[in-house]
Amino acid sequence: MPTITTQATHSNASIMADPNWWRQAAVYQIYPRSFADSNGDGIGDLKGVTARIPYLKDLGIDAVWLSPFYPSALADGGYDVDDYRNVDPKLGTLDDFDEMANALKTAGIKLIVDIVPNHSSNRHQWFQEALASPKGSAARNRYIFRDGLGDNGELPPSDWDSVFGGPAWERITEPDGTPGQWYMHIFAREQPDFNWDNPEVRADFLKTLRFWADRGVDGFRIDVAHALTKNLEETLPTKADLEAQGEALYLAGQHPYWDRDDVHGIYAEWRRLFNEYNPPRTAVAEAWVHADRRARYASPEGLGQAFNFDLLQADFDAGQFRTTIVKNLAEAQASGASSTWVFSNHDVVRHATRYGLPASDPSAGGEIMAGQAGKRWLLAGGRQDDVDVELGLRRARAASLLMFALPGSAYLYQGEELGLQEVGSEIPDSARQDPAFFRNKGVDIGRDGCRVPLPWTSGGSSFGFGPGGSHLPQPEWFAGNSVEAQEGQEDSTLSLYRRALALRRQLQTAETLELLETGRDDVLAFRRPNGWTSVTNFGTESFELPSGRLLVSSSPFKGDLLPGATTAWIQA
Ligand code: NOJ
Repeated sequence: MPTITTQATHSNASIMADPNWWRQAAVYQIYPRSFADSNGDGIGDLKGVTARIPYLKDLGIDAVWLSPFYPSALADGGYDVDDYRNVDPKLGTLDDFDEMANALKTAGIKLIVDIVPNHSSNRHQWFQEALASPKGSAARNRYIFRDGLGDNGELPPSDWDSVFGGPAWERITEPDGTPGQWYMHIFAREQPDFNWDNPEVRADFLKTLRFWADRGVDGFRIDVAHALTKNLEETLPTKADLEAQGEALYLAGQHPYWDRDDVHGIYAEWRRLFNEYNPPRTAVAEAWVHADRRARYASPEGLGQAFNFDLLQADFDAGQFRTTIVKNLAEAQASGASSTWVFSNHDVVRHATRYGLPASDPSAGGEIMAGQAGKRWLLAGGRQDDVDVELGLRRARAASLLMFALPGSAYLYQGEELGLQEVGSEIPDSARQDPAFFRNKGVDIGRDGCRVPLPWTSGGSSFGFGPGGSHLPQPEWFAGNSVEAQEGQEDSTLSLYRRALALRRQLQTAETLELLETGRDDVLAFRRPNGWTSVTNFGTESFELPSGRLLVSSSPFKGDLLPGATTAWIQA
């Protein structure tokens, strides 16, 4: 069986002093509005994060990634930023930020913040200026404004769709009250795209990166890193023109707005800025690109690391996992980055739910954003009755334990350590917030179900999230998943995560992995240096474990027969 080695070794010395800390970090994503609410307004805040740092420390994570906490009208959960160098007053102040950053540092936890460079919000000062300024002005040139087609410019400049549904162009009213130009927005209409050909835009983001790096931020997660540069010549191709060119267009880096080759010039400049700091600031790209083009984002001359969403899109299937792991480790080796692994985040159906659904139809091709099974469930209205909750959780625990044994960084999403399921149809339409729901009404129920505030206690106001209710309704069954319910319970998901993350810290050394022959298609086993061995039984028939000392298992069992849907770590 092949031995797979990636470049560097991970130091077990204190993570704070290690410039390579990011290579094999366990990074915990906090969606701030839904983590912990300190002031009772129903919205999570930075003081809430600070208050929960002891919890994060006990969990054993190395870094926190904070989704946007900037001033925002929340048209897209904070990914519509009004001001890149400030804190949303609903979430706190810059002083609260400094207090939180210092407390994390004291706890030995690194801090990563989200940067949203493709678009601002429509309330951003620059966009307001653009609306108030005439066609062709410098203010308009910071965004992408075009005249419409048709006799009176009444048609959008192209027929392109936005990611959230509906057109990718919005018409404005000119300052004199007449119907005017159109601006481009790949996402919601409240998220106008910046013009990255404009040096002023480039300079402003360098200022933003410096602003946060100077405040002690250790790294950045770059939102839609693959969309910034665009080629919008006079005559724009139609959707049909683009579709006709198929995958070749993407592979050539020639799509008008996705994953263009010239985007990497921006990241080379950012890298020079990151390297001015000691230790250098890190970055991870959110880039939903063809796997063959991902390494460019992860290069050491660029952002340094890129998310790989391949496991997230795979079914609970040994073959799919195996192929994905081998491919991604090879890619990481080629790029000089370390690999990244993720099962859940604020955009996708939680993996405990996905794995309780019937597997995907492999002939249907990959469905991004939620994995096929999750996406189908959202399309069908997200009924809890359609989920095998017990099986989903059992598999999710097995998958997470496997992930923690892989070389590279593991990105966790708040609540997965509690075994939370996605909240589906329990959220009434009237309470929904996601623009993906509103712009696509009746198509899919959107992403609110993974953004429901965390249950800290089994009762009380909003299950301990805060003293004043919760901005998204929490279902009754959250009580059983609460931190309080799981604390001290040896077999709880929380205890499993704590045990596994503590062991991972001790065991992790070189970024190498040797696949082991198991004689079974549905059993995946690999060994890390020093005899640390992870075995996952994806099937239903038990599997005889190799000899060694059992370190931890995702579900309890007796003897040396590993039951189905279970991972065990063995010290050989
Ligand atoms: C990706 C983010 O993860 C998602 O939540 C957001 O809606 C889009 N980018 C647009 O910023």
